[in-house]
Amino acid sequence: MEKFWTGILSVIFVGWAAAVLAVPAHRSLTYADGETGLVIFKGKTHQQKCSACHRNGVFPIMRQGAEVITMQKIEQGDQCGACHDGRKAFGSSGNCNRCHRPAENH
Ligand code: HEC
Ligand code: HEC
Ligand code: HEC
Repeated sequence: MEKFWTGILSVIFVGWAAAVLAVPAHRSLTYADGETGLVIFKGKTHQQKCSACHRNGVFPIMRQGAEVITMQKIEQGDQCGACHDGRKAFGSSGNCNRCHRPAENH
């Protein structure tokens, strides 16, 4: 019985924590590995519904770093490339500096 309640409570707590963290944590995510300069993903400029990104092939898991983002996947239309294909949003080729900021160090 004790286990049961611990289980229920942790489900509630995790749900609550996710709801509370979602907005502030998601306001802006910085990816620092790009050799071409860091990439800042802003929640503010990406106000689509959650399932536009949090689905298979894009970013199924709500955790930064859950996906290893590569340009190959982006160019194939996965990850950021699900929208950044030159139609729904600016594409990756020729637009490196719109995502990577080599000059500014933010
Ligand atoms: C829509 C945004 C976006 C555009 C446009 C973009 N990138 Fe990226 N790129 C990313 C993200 C996000 C990462 C992952 C960075 C990380 O994990 O730290 C990345 C990673 C990389 C990496 C390291 C991983 C790999 O795949 O080799 C390189 C190199 C790179 N980008 C080069 C480029 C070049 C060159 C261009 C232009 C032709 C470009 N990027 C355009 C978002 C973008
Ligand atoms: C335009 C795309 C996009 C939309 C729309 C989106 N997200 Fe995300 N979200 C991302 C990306 C990208 C990540 C990082 C995933 C990764 O690095 O593998 C992320 C990560 C997260 C994280 C983890 C943040 C952290 O600091 O690790 C949470 C929580 C999250 N999203 C919640 C939401 C919620 C709730 C919604 C809807 C209100 C939403 N997201 C809509 C792209 C999006
Ligand atoms: C669900 C669709 C969608 C996904 C997925 C998506 N974007 Fe965007 N993004 C957009 C749209 C729409 C715009 C605004 C239109 C435009 O600029 O072409 C935009 C604009 C941007 C901008 C310019 C505005 C700003 O915030 O500075 C950057 C940079 C950007 N996205 C980076 C990314 C990165 C990095 C990823 C992956 C981690 C990503 N986006 C994933 C739809 C998306």
